[in-house]
Amino acid sequence: MLTQRPRGTADIYGSAIAAWRALEEVVHATFRAYHYEEIRTPVFEHTELFERGVGETTDIVEKEMYTFLDRGERSLTLRPEGTAGVVRAYVENKLYAAPGAAKLYYIGPMFRYEKPQKGRERQFHQFGCEVLGSDDPAVDAEVIALNVDVLNRFGLAGLTVELNSVGCPVCRPEHRARMVAVLKPAAHRLCPDCQRRLDRNPLRIFDCKRGCREVLAELHAPSILDALCPDCRQHLAAVEALLTALAVPYVRNPHLVRGLDYYTRTAWEVTAPELGTVGGGGRYNGLVAEVGGPDTPGIGFAVGMERALLLRELQHGPWPAEPRLDLFVAVADPSATAAAMQMLQAVRQAGFTADRDYQGRGLKAQLKQADRLGARLVAILGGDELARGAATVKDMASGEQRDVPMDGVVDLLRRLADGAQI
Ligand code: HAM
Repeated sequence: MLTQRPRGTADIYGSAIAAWRALEEVVHATFRAYHYEEIRTPVFEHTELFERGVGETTDIVEKEMYTFLDRGERSLTLRPEGTAGVVRAYVENKLYAAPGAAKLYYIGPMFRYEKPQKGRERQFHQFGCEVLGSDDPAVDAEVIALNVDVLNRFGLAGLTVELNSVGCPVCRPEHRARMVAVLKPAAHRLCPDCQRRLDRNPLRIFDCKRGCREVLAELHAPSILDALCPDCRQHLAAVEALLTALAVPYVRNPHLVRGLDYYTRTAWEVTAPELGTVGGGGRYNGLVAEVGGPDTPGIGFAVGMERALLLRELQHGPWPAEPRLDLFVAVADPSATAAAMQMLQAVRQAGFTADRDYQGRGLKAQLKQADRLGARLVAILGGDELARGAATVKDMASGEQRDVPMDGVVDLLRRLADGAQI
């Protein structure tokens, strides 16, 4: 146990870090281009926020939350998703007082007690965004386009948006009543979970993974799209027209239900043939009021970063190795340690990467290490070099070697960076 991480978690290190950093950089640059501001909210919140926000009938709240009592007997929960916390922060900090819609994005770890498998962890990471304060369908289209754009910028291709409308408090009750009327007589054919869903949230049956979807198909369960009220219908049509104008590839999926209860109207998932769902989101016009804020419409999405990275690897192979080391300083004699450290600091402060051995290895082993690290140059410093006031500098690619004054190494690296030969 002591040397084993908990199931469903990962250590991210070594060559994986370059890929994570690259994804994070794409995320920051893309949201900057769309003029979003970053927000960082706590990793844990009051349990009630998720019960109210995410919804008591969702799998997340029913089965997947990491909930605990702290030493003051407060019930806290590790966030299973980012939206509820961002909305809480929006209300608590009165971000609605600023003019215009709030456009916020985030990156961070999320926690769900799920059965781990490829692309499904218990601690995973999302980046995502929320736009609060506009019900304009142009925002829906822009946010969906942004969801695809950020993944395209990370080199992911072949993505499709599956689009649906889940209606609103005006049209959903009617659809719900129609669903119940069709399904009630066949309730015994549904799994125990869906029998409960039938009373509490029948739309969720479309998301069942235990065969209830076949029952729905057989009984011709009504599609929410047929039940939409005129306003929801118009909203969806406007979103679709704008997605077409923006050349965002989408397909309608009338059976798409997301795993969270806060959605109203637009809901979507971005899928890839190799992997399934990479990200998803939707509009949530009732959530801000639900957590105690002013009646404010909202919309957003989140992408699973592990899944984006997995897809990138499936499409392009392993991430290329980190850029190599500019300089390795080999210390041939302990008397040269101070001079070596001065050289290392000068080179690093000039913006180059430089390293040395810390384990007292012999010169031959140090040169081997420099080679393994892919160093461009090696500067050898020993008693002779100190006496001459110059380091022996070796170009690791050509094997060429020459003396360079102690304070001339930075200059040499600059000239090499400009394309000169040693
Ligand atoms: P979600 O669909 O629950 O939505 O999660 C979004 C994405 O997070 C998924 O598409 C998936 O890539 C990733 N994800 C979810 N669970 C796991 C897991 N156990 N392991 C690895 N990746 C996972 C939300 O979380 C909403 N907050 C999105 C949103 C923002 N809606 C409006 N605003």
